[in-house]
Amino acid sequence: MGLLRKIAADAFELARALRSERSDEAAGARPSTKDAVRAALTQDGYKVLLMSRVRETARRWHVPGVNHALRLVTTVLYSIEIGNDIELGEGINFTHTLGTVIGGTSKVGSRVKFMGNNTIGTAKDNGCPVIEDDVVIGCGARVLGPIRIGRGAFIGANAVVLTDVPPGAIATGIPAKVHERGNGAAGAAKSGTSTNGAD
Ligand SMILES: CC(C)(COP(=O)(O)OP(=O)(O)OC[C@H]1O[C@@H](n2cnc3c(N)ncnc32)[C@H](O)[C@@H]1OP(=O)(O)O)[C@@H](O)C(=O)NCCC(=O)NCCS
Repeated sequence: MGLLRKIAADAFELARALRSERSDEAAGARPSTKDAVRAALTQDGYKVLLMSRVRETARRWHVPGVNHALRLVTTVLYSIEIGNDIELGEGINFTHTLGTVIGGTSKVGSRVKFMGNNTIGTAKDNGCPVIEDDVVIGCGARVLGPIRIGRGAFIGANAVVLTDVPPGAIATGIPAKVHERGNGAAGAAKSGTSTNGAD
């Protein structure tokens, strides 16, 4: 997919995610171009994603300096570090960018939501996680090692996840254990302030 198509898809996915967090009747509606533009302009996480897309393209085309410079910009402006070999799906939502590191060869699916201060990477130089689509990663959580976080799973705040998490499951604690969803999970998934740069 070309750079422009990717950054447009990111904006629409992000707008869709923001809409789904609303409780009114417009929540389920398809985002308009205006919604996508608004999401792109107001969300810090979108700017991080945009710069990551430009970095990917610059690396692919061997444009010198761009990858390094933009990596530095995202680190300085948003306190987030995304490595060179990371695969990022569409519309990833960095609710809060501060303190997040995604390293090594981690793969992050589409619409994954990072609530802030997260680490995704190797546990002891033994490989990196694969995070499937629609996972939510609570604030302060670490996901480490060659593990797979199944689609739609929820990683609780401050969890340290060292083993696979099945699709749709919730993992909490250190080391994280999988447990059944309580009544609070859906609400928690919607919390965590959907807006960031707009605040
Ligand atoms: C994990 C989470 C989604 C709750 O999931 P849930 O299935 O609805 O959990 P419940 O509230 O029903 O609690 C179930 C059990 O897990 C425990 N628990 C909940 N969250 C926990 C966490 N982060 N770490 C450890 N234990 C946790 C509860 O104390 C409860 O324990 P008990 O059965 O011994 O009483 C939520 O607590 C969480 O961590 N959300 C992330 C929020 C976040 O990152 N916000 C960012 C704001 S910027």
